[in-house]
Amino acid sequence: MTARPTVVVTRRLPGIVEEELSRDFEAKLSRDDRPLGAAGLQDALRGADAVLCTVTDRLTSEVLAVEPLRARMLANFGVGFNHIDTAAAKARGLAVSNTPDVLTEATADIAVTLLLMVSRRAGEGERHVRCGAWTGWRPTHMLGTEVSGKTLGLVGMGRIARAVARRTHHGFGMRVIFHDPYPPSAAEAAALGAEPRETLEQVLDEADFVSLHCPATPETRHLMNRERLARMRRSAFLINTARGDVVDEAALVEALGDGTIAGAGLDVYEREPEITPELLTMENVVLLPHLGSATQETRIAMGRRAVENLRLFFSGAPLRDRVV
Ligand code: DGY
Repeated sequence: MTARPTVVVTRRLPGIVEEELSRDFEAKLSRDDRPLGAAGLQDALRGADAVLCTVTDRLTSEVLAVEPLRARMLANFGVGFNHIDTAAAKARGLAVSNTPDVLTEATADIAVTLLLMVSRRAGEGERHVRCGAWTGWRPTHMLGTEVSGKTLGLVGMGRIARAVARRTHHGFGMRVIFHDPYPPSAAEAAALGAEPRETLEQVLDEADFVSLHCPATPETRHLMNRERLARMRRSAFLINTARGDVVDEAALVEALGDGTIAGAGLDVYEREPEITPELLTMENVVLLPHLGSATQETRIAMGRRAVENLRLFFSGAPLRDRVV
């Protein structure tokens, strides 16, 4: 690298990552940790050589149409990049990278956390204890649904879904089925104890738990709509650690309210951080604030991966995690 490139960082990062970034780059760090908004993002694109962005930055074609454009790279802190209009980025000559692999285990852990919490009524139970309503043990108190031996249906079979399959099949003896238009090899699936299904509908018909692991694309928007939710068993639970857009949140509220499905565990929402108000009142839903990758270890690893991509880009080497 010759002159130190300027990088605008849109949100606070773990301290060690901010230090490492500042060693090689003229890092413009976030002080108030607030999303920049469209105007702030355009300032960053006009004033810096790269932007280290996150899921809270909506890099639309309008934002990316900024003039004059100085930035040459968007290093996304996160694996999902549906908040970036990648076609517009490409058209403007911007390279885009993400941070896969390093968050797989943490995100799989959150999917399993939600699965256990919603089936064993853990959120509801905790609220019960905290509000002083608990009167003591009794044989019929707050009975949930057994997880061991049940069928888990994975929608999408990428890295995170595979890590969920490993945990649930080998840990809880669950039967794991999946649908993915680009499935793993038969040998890989067999090693995970996972059986492919030709269609999503077959997964929905058979599963006691449906866990979403597909990317958010125009094709997967509202994949779980009213019809598909109705296709699930009335005793089944929906888990979403992918992206809010994959579920029609209004249809989900209906399905949870009228008993079409038994419950849901959600880490992501259609209009984050806004949540459809009815969800907040429902006992058969567990709601987490987008915590999938939120461990110290993982967030540091994600930051280092983003910094590595920046270093590679500005030294003229191929990106490790090129999206565009
Ligand atoms: C991811 O990595 O995609 C997380 O959801 C945060 O963006």
